[in-house]
Amino acid sequence: MKKIAVFTSGGDAPGMNAAIRAVVRGAIYHNLKVCGIVKGYQGMIDNDIHDMDSYSVSNILQRGGTILKSARCDEFRTSEGRKKAYDNLQKHNIDALVAIGGDGSFTGANIFYKEYGVPIIGVPGTIDNDIFGSDQTIGFDTAVNTALDAIDKIRDTADSHGRIFFVEVMGRDSGYIAIQSAIGGGAESVILPEKRATPDDVVRHLMNKREKTFSVVVVSEKEVSGNSIILAEKVKESLPDRDIRVSILGHMQRGGTPSAQDRTLASRLGLAAVEALIEGKKDMMVGIISNKLAFTSFFDSISHPKPIDDDLIRTMKILSI
Ligand code: F6P
Repeated sequence: MKKIAVFTSGGDAPGMNAAIRAVVRGAIYHNLKVCGIVKGYQGMIDNDIHDMDSYSVSNILQRGGTILKSARCDEFRTSEGRKKAYDNLQKHNIDALVAIGGDGSFTGANIFYKEYGVPIIGVPGTIDNDIFGSDQTIGFDTAVNTALDAIDKIRDTADSHGRIFFVEVMGRDSGYIAIQSAIGGGAESVILPEKRATPDDVVRHLMNKREKTFSVVVVSEKEVSGNSIILAEKVKESLPDRDIRVSILGHMQRGGTPSAQDRTLASRLGLAAVEALIEGKKDMMVGIISNKLAFTSFFDSISHPKPIDDDLIRTMKILSI
């Protein structure tokens, strides 16, 4: 193996730049040439592939987003798209890849490895923290801190006006951001995609707290009714005398300066990915389990859900009485 390439794919996450830096510098340290692929699989198909050196990753560690850009690429789902991607890798003499992204990116990597045998190591980068095989994914800690900052501010105004606030956080099919920001933000209730709750459940819970002057309910973006606005409208029907507001945090959770934890995680995983390729590992991702590096095949990683720890649910339940 002489030359590797790194790319970021799917939703960006704070800390991806730190991971890119670690891959590039790790490769240089081990006397490998290294390229960056712009916009993930799309850049592979479009031949948007560039040599990188130590200087190209200086002063990026602390920046959110990804200097390599990212994309969700439909063309790579087709065999024609993957053929184009493979041909372009050949043109650049790229022997192996590091894919920084989430489950969609790892699904693509797994198919690509099976078809063309290009060694690929995945680095879990997504704010959702929904990757089986790693206790934490790059960007999650920063996203939770961003959500917490918003919730703290919302509590001030909720308290001043005695309102119920529904705060919608990201997390697609996974409630990790929701549960951790609900616990850390002292929310009265949380709605998770994993634990279906109806508007009636929320009303019952809030009714039990009638003596409270204000409430914050954290809603994962895919709660049962479709979104927090619909949920708030339904709750308002049952609690017509209460003043209710909705705040959807949205993509602000994806940006910003990565936390110390995300920078360290990204640096460790990026370097480990390069060293795994050197050791001949392929078709797997490197994660962190109990603070130790751990490898999980792409197949296992994409075929197992990562359930929310019951202890988190219990903690939330007890502390929100
Ligand atoms: O996967 C990360 C994530 O931010 C999810 O939490 C969210 O549902 C999704 O991406 C949003 O995707 P997009 O940026 O394509 O709208």
